[in-house]
Amino acid sequence: MSLSQSPIRDSFGSKFGIIAAAAGSAVGLGNIWKFPYITGQNGGGAFLLIYLLCVILIGVPVMMSEFAIGRRGQRNAFGSFKALSPNKPWYMVGLMGVVAAFFILAFYSAVAGWTLEYIVQSVTHRFANQSTANLQTSFNSFISGTYRPVIWQLIFMALTAAIVIAGVKKGIEKYTKLLMPILVLLILILCLRSVTLDGAMAGLSFLFKPDFSKITGETILFALGQAFFSLSLGMGTLITYASYFGKNENLALTAVQVSLADTIIAVLAGVMIFPAVFAFNIEPASGPSLVFITLPGIFQQMPGGDIFGAIFFVLLAVAALTSTISVLEVVVAYFAEELKLSRKKATLLASVSIAVLGIFASLSFGPLANFKIFGKGVFDLLDFTASNVLLPLGGLFIVLFIGWYFTKDLTRAELSNENKLRVRFFPAYIFIVRFVAPLAITAIFIYSIFIGGLG
Ligand code: PFF
Repeated sequence: MSLSQSPIRDSFGSKFGIIAAAAGSAVGLGNIWKFPYITGQNGGGAFLLIYLLCVILIGVPVMMSEFAIGRRGQRNAFGSFKALSPNKPWYMVGLMGVVAAFFILAFYSAVAGWTLEYIVQSVTHRFANQSTANLQTSFNSFISGTYRPVIWQLIFMALTAAIVIAGVKKGIEKYTKLLMPILVLLILILCLRSVTLDGAMAGLSFLFKPDFSKITGETILFALGQAFFSLSLGMGTLITYASYFGKNENLALTAVQVSLADTIIAVLAGVMIFPAVFAFNIEPASGPSLVFITLPGIFQQMPGGDIFGAIFFVLLAVAALTSTISVLEVVVAYFAEELKLSRKKATLLASVSIAVLGIFASLSFGPLANFKIFGKGVFDLLDFTASNVLLPLGGLFIVLFIGWYFTKDLTRAELSNENKLRVRFFPAYIFIVRFVAPLAITAIFIYSIFIGGLG
């Protein structure tokens, strides 16, 4: 199957650019506010071990499959499926990814906007001498406002669009190459601050001490769901990015490197957060309250806390930005290639329409709090539909496509760069994409829809 490649198609220019962009997509808010907490709560080192197994056994093979589809297809997520399977409805999987990207960006950009507000709050000393109750009240009154959160969200969307509009090499690659090293530096500074506080050990033991009695079937599904979201799998982000990879890129190695980077950053986020939380005797929490209430409470008690607070929120904003650009690119590539729009028009159309939906997501914490669909506010509905339904379903069809539809020979050709690389892992990989991954993903899917709590 030879596919014509448009001569004007943009591409990544370097190996480091590819890793920075793909790891930038994977490392996001999920690593910082979700992973550390669920690890601590679910058996520490024991959970970590299970999470690692999920990443290695399922995450990496799914990522390799997305890479193979994108690089072979040479199009956006929808177009790649259509190119590889012209007469079958597999393109629906790509379309679902585009819809998921739309939904994810609408709610994710709201939270990303909050990080900008909190950068400003830390540098203007707004956490000083505030009780936890006050911090909670001011967070709640901020997010339920009509204008401030929406304005920050629009600023964040504009930043995302400004990078994406510049193209793959001159926009996405250029900025992720700059931002990812900054992210690593900031997280290391904060880890160092945290582990040198008195009483830091208790936090490290909350995070790492293995407690195998906490491991149940449910924990395993939890680990798999988190691995999936954290690695940005299932919605075509990595299909889209891989369509810009060079023909000599080693897809399996890249998948391993990106997954490793994502996991290391998630663990470092725990090392940054829990020693500080325990040193100040605070109950660990997760999600928005950990990041926007508990941590500001800690920063104000810490010497140099305003600076560390500002560093922390810049870190969050950077982590979010490198993820939002990857999500926007899914929609932009789709609009540009399928509607035949210029990148500029496609970016404007995608970001403006996502921003409109995003405003509804943001307002669901305030003026639209009583507007519910299926019993959920707009933000929660978008989050649930994308994270708990579309991502696992997308992931499932991606492995089924590679495992059962796309022939073994073509898959081998793609993973070995047309026999230039040795692919000794190939039989194990095929076994996983045919049997292990579909069963495991079906299990997460059923669990997350009927029992809830993932994503
Ligand atoms: N992986 C990101 C995180 O952990 O926050 C979230 C995400 C980004 C999910 C991109 C899906 C995606 F396509």
